[in-house]
Amino acid sequence: MPPWYDLPLNDRLAVIQYIKYVLAVDRTDPKKPVQYFVVSPPGQPLYIPAPPAPTPALIAHGKDVWTQAKCWECHGETGKGDGEEAPGLKDDSGFTMHPANLTSGQFKSGPSVTDIYRTISTGLSGTPMPSFHDSFPDADRWALAYYILSLSAFTDPLSGEPLKIPAADRQALDNPKLEAPTPEQAYGLLPP
Ligand code: HEC
Repeated sequence: MPPWYDLPLNDRLAVIQYIKYVLAVDRTDPKKPVQYFVVSPPGQPLYIPAPPAPTPALIAHGKDVWTQAKCWECHGETGKGDGEEAPGLKDDSGFTMHPANLTSGQFKSGPSVTDIYRTISTGLSGTPMPSFHDSFPDADRWALAYYILSLSAFTDPLSGEPLKIPAADRQALDNPKLEAPTPEQAYGLLPP
């Protein structure tokens, strides 16, 4: 799926409406088309507060929640998407569906800790990915979201190999107080 940010914003919004209300319609019975996006009224909005600051203790707690919540049943002990329940999972349309590999650093629903927290809270409708909003309190879901991010930290998303990052760079990346004057300088591409 290529990026489409060069299309004007209103065109991108218009094509979303076209997909939702013209393409995503089951016309098996032409007299009674079923519109997937208007079947039920929206539920209560989910308000997402600012994330807590990450700490090693929080990530360790996230690992405990991962075990308790049985995320491993689908996503596998190490998060590679190879849990015991993985074979045979289907989406709501009956198509085979694989649990996400959470170690690649590539997240379909967004890469920030808030995105992961939202996915864990709401689940992903139409897929076997459940909602954990009612079974685990906020603090547990934040801890879990940070733990998920830690599974791909410092890993090359294409090869899955650990990135070779010199200790000094690693320390700099971990330092929340360090600011680059421009985005181009953030990764040392240009001399400061
Ligand atoms: C019943 C199986 C199942 C269980 C249990 C499960 N998941 Fe998932 N999960 C899935 C599937 C399938 C997907 C992929 C959905 C897709 O690709 O659209 C997914 C996707 C995700 C994603 C989104 C990845 C992305 O690319 O954005 C995250 C994050 C995630 N799961 C975390 C968790 C966590 C944390 C737990 C435990 C609290 C958990 N899952 C439990 C099946 C499961």
